[in-house]
Amino acid sequence: MSIIKTKNLTKIYKKGRKKIRALHNLNLSVDEGTIFGFLGRNGAGKTTAIKLFLGLLRPTSGNISILGKNPDNIDIKNQIGYLPEISYLDKDFTAWELLKFFGNFFKIERKVVEERIDDLLSQFGLLTFKDTKIGDFSKGMLQKIAIIQALLHQPKLLILDEPTEGLDPISQHEIREFVKNEKKKGNTIFLSSHYLDEVEELCDVIGVLHKGKLLRYGEKDKLLQYKIMYTFIIKGKSIESIVSKYNGKPFLNDCYKLHISLNEKENFTNLLNRNKIEIVEFYREREEIADFFLRTIGESKNE
Ligand SMILES: Nc1ncnc2c1ncn2[C@@H]1O[C@H](COP(=O)(O)OP(=O)(O)OP(=O)(O)O)[C@@H](O)[C@H]1O
Ligand SMILES: [Mg+2]
Repeated sequence: MSIIKTKNLTKIYKKGRKKIRALHNLNLSVDEGTIFGFLGRNGAGKTTAIKLFLGLLRPTSGNISILGKNPDNIDIKNQIGYLPEISYLDKDFTAWELLKFFGNFFKIERKVVEERIDDLLSQFGLLTFKDTKIGDFSKGMLQKIAIIQALLHQPKLLILDEPTEGLDPISQHEIREFVKNEKKKGNTIFLSSHYLDEVEELCDVIGVLHKGKLLRYGEKDKLLQYKIMYTFIIKGKSIESIVSKYNGKPFLNDCYKLHISLNEKENFTNLLNRNKIEIVEFYREREEIADFFLRTIGESKNE
């Protein structure tokens, strides 16, 4: 089942006489139980799309269905957890007071919400800071409180706008593990991120948004297998010309390391055979996600 589905979703902001086309004909579908990764540079339109999904902005044209309903439908609100890009938590509350407030907001029974708050605080290593004021929290701690707040009502769809932006590697790791765990429970996660490795690690489906347009969209494994590379580690006498032809680099113990593309592979291995050059190691790898992203953005300039 499709949890989020958009059709030709377009948003044009108007500032005086100026028009900014933030999103142009976005068509995507997020399946239940999957993690969707929205990649894009600053200003690509990611937050705009998210706000449209949530009904916080109105589309200029096009349609959205979220949990099978229109974004304005109030019955779906308690099934969605949202982590905004900038958190607006009230700094005068303690962690406990703030989370209790949101528990009341969602009309969760007192005992249930108190247990859940303790569970979530301890899951994120924040139980000892229960009575600390939000204003005294570090950026990472704040982000975790904002995530707990988004989770308190146990939503089946989580929309996370750059959940690990600006956090240290350990906090990033904790949040990524939490996202994986939410998927294990059968929940659906839509996340936007600048971190390519994060999207590669977590997501089943990737969309690359650039200047409001979805340049690439599909299952991660299919998208990244677009370009398969082979790595050879070779050694032997008089291999310098081969090494320089294929842009190889010196490796350990008189060996050289070379990256060979799929269509060069046959000629390359024939050349090695003819010259009696030993293959010490050989493996196939997918394109790095960073290369995929740069190539995708680069190709769009020619379109
Ligand atoms: N309220 C607004 N009024 C006018 N223009 C806006 C508004 N919000 C966003 N924009 C513009 O729309 C475009 C997309 O912005 P958006 O915030 O959706 O990008 P983003 O992909 O989330 O970027 P970032 O990675 O920096 O968060 C940008 O050009 C931005 O300047
Ligand atoms: Mg944004």
